[in-house]
Amino acid sequence: MEFFIDTANLEEIKSLSTWGVVDGVTTNPSLIAKEGKSQKEIITAITEIIDGPISAEVIATDFDGMISEGQELAKIHSNIVIKVPLTIAGLQATKWFTENNIKTNVTLAFSANQALLAAKNGATYVSPFIGRLDDIGQTGMDLIREIRAIYDNYGFTTKILAASIRHTDHVKEAAIVGADVSTIPYKVLTQLVKHPLTDSGLEQFLADHAKSK
Ligand code: E4P
Repeated sequence: MEFFIDTANLEEIKSLSTWGVVDGVTTNPSLIAKEGKSQKEIITAITEIIDGPISAEVIATDFDGMISEGQELAKIHSNIVIKVPLTIAGLQATKWFTENNIKTNVTLAFSANQALLAAKNGATYVSPFIGRLDDIGQTGMDLIREIRAIYDNYGFTTKILAASIRHTDHVKEAAIVGADVSTIPYKVLTQLVKHPLTDSGLEQFLADHAKSK
């Protein structure tokens, strides 16, 4: 399973990049807006830290606008993945980007049928938002399970990117049901490493070592 960091914060990305477990980065307009810099500046800086897929989202909602924004973003670095919303124009743009060898991440996926459409148009990634489904009383993880079954039935190569991850159990469950990637916020990624028995066990080993000859 690949791990992406779900943030546009350069300090967070720098800090986690040293762990050896980060394969890529996802951003969205809300994450970019928090940083007080332009999307181009931030995405360019991320390419200097992480050598892996970096999702940059288009703002345009029409086909022509998505293509022109996506082409500009793709020029920043060969690792850029163009994030488009799961709309008709987004699906049309996905097909165009695929035919023009530009990688895509189809975002805001909330149903298995939407994910099926993204795969049919050759999306590199589809992003089901599991936390936002949980928020409205559904079980987001069921969506990952359904998409996995559908993609496996037909051999679709679109990668399932579990997004809107809110806690460590989401990461574990996404791995169990077979998501290809989890995009994880900084706080959740730092929590993955922690276990109280690891801390107390280490403390005991060090105390015992201090008593040995
Ligand atoms: C990532 O690609 C998504 O934009 C992100 O995971 C959304 O997360 P949120 O639902 O916490 O905003």
